[in-house]
Amino acid sequence: MTTPASRTEYPPHPPKRVPVLGDVLGLDPVKPMQKTAGMLAQLGPIYQRRILGLRLTFVGGAELAAEVNDDTVWQKAVARPLQKLRPIVGDGLFTAYNHEPNWAKAHAILAPAFTQASMRSYHDTMRDVVAEMCTAWDQTSADLDVAAEMTKLTLETIGRCGFGYRFGSFDRAELDPFVAAMNSALGYVQKQGIPIPGRALYDTVTGRAREHRRDIEHMFAVVDDVIADRQADPHDEPRDLLDLMLATADPDTGERLDAVNVRNQILTFLVAGHETSSSALAFALNLLSRHPAEAEKARAEVDALWTEASTVPFEQVAKLRTVRRVLDETLRLWPTAPGYFREARHDTVLGGRYPIRAGQMVMVVLQRVHTDPSVWGEDTGEFRPDRFLPDQVRARPGHAYKPFGTGIRAWIGRQFAYHEMILALATILRRYDVDIDLPPTLDVREQLTLKPEGLRMTVTRR
Ligand code: HEM
Repeated sequence: MTTPASRTEYPPHPPKRVPVLGDVLGLDPVKPMQKTAGMLAQLGPIYQRRILGLRLTFVGGAELAAEVNDDTVWQKAVARPLQKLRPIVGDGLFTAYNHEPNWAKAHAILAPAFTQASMRSYHDTMRDVVAEMCTAWDQTSADLDVAAEMTKLTLETIGRCGFGYRFGSFDRAELDPFVAAMNSALGYVQKQGIPIPGRALYDTVTGRAREHRRDIEHMFAVVDDVIADRQADPHDEPRDLLDLMLATADPDTGERLDAVNVRNQILTFLVAGHETSSSALAFALNLLSRHPAEAEKARAEVDALWTEASTVPFEQVAKLRTVRRVLDETLRLWPTAPGYFREARHDTVLGGRYPIRAGQMVMVVLQRVHTDPSVWGEDTGEFRPDRFLPDQVRARPGHAYKPFGTGIRAWIGRQFAYHEMILALATILRRYDVDIDLPPTLDVREQLTLKPEGLRMTVTRR
């Protein structure tokens, strides 16, 4: 039960609120999340932005995040940025409304695909993709774009482990047309996510809206072909996520996913599953370059464990605890999914002061929650992977670290992300000296996820 507010109070709002339009001044359509994190640093652990009567509250303190994560009072909200993704991914797992039956069905069908045991079946594919990346780096080792290289890796991994599709990322210089369409579509969605008056008209007049529809049609056509090919020539045993979706029935209802939903899930895995992991790897390489002692510690662990340079047995990946801590600490400082939305199930009061109506939305801003000094200490901005040693993790409230979201709608596949990221980072540490041209301030691009921009590296075989 939530205690009633002793007095009605509204959270602080950004400066320069204007009549009717509300808090539109100071909106940053290019880097909205970084602006939001800055606003929280200025205004405290909560603030509210009103635009044309719409209220959105942002939470950036661990205590308030713990309240908003309480599933008895709050639930996932499919807020505007996710609604704008729905023309591409429909009722796929990430964007399904809580009441849509396909969420529970797909969740039940796909959960077994992401257990630690299932990772064994993806391991060889993941390892092959990392090996292809290394072969490409051995040929071209200078002036590599860090984020772009990591994106090739994760896209290729999810394409092959998900539905046996090769984008050929390491075979050619130009982008696969599907990837070009996806990038263009995600750029459009990112802009649509911010309610800027007049945007829809602008997009129609400039033809951008039509281009977006064409991008989506192209993506649908490619994925529908992949599904049709597999239906025509099914595997005997499930080998990837697509096999599982086509061959398995929901244990509760006995129903299967229909063809449109299978397409929605595939597109969801591509959209939700490649930039989050690739940017985490790129941020990790950036942080390790700035902290050579931490890089040496992680590398010493890999060298000690991987005595055979060429093959990495599945079991050894989970043993790389230092590498895992590097990734955990990276996702603390740079949560590549920068936040998630929650909506109140009923009228409530947040922080004992702020009345919230049923259905009202709050965004949990992870970069602020993950650096709340009341939990993480005064050195909260420092990169210190040992924060994730087991005794330190146990001593902290769980709600202060949520890079994969919270509750039933958190990402069930985090094992997949960790396995691929650990395997890739450990291989890079073992095989190469990485020299990144470090800018004094990191430029971080936003396209639903956070991504380090403009980092170039040279890799040298050890
Ligand atoms: C470092 C890597 C990753 C991070 C930081 C991350 C982050 C997140 C977060 C914060 C959510 C919750 C969103 C919300 O509450 O609205 C989420 C959900 C989801 N993610 Fe990820 N993710 C990662 C990797 C992946 C990968 C590799 C895939 C696909 C293979 C994926 C697919 C999904 C899906 C399908 C959901 C929706 C789950 C549901 O509602 O049932 N993610 N992820």
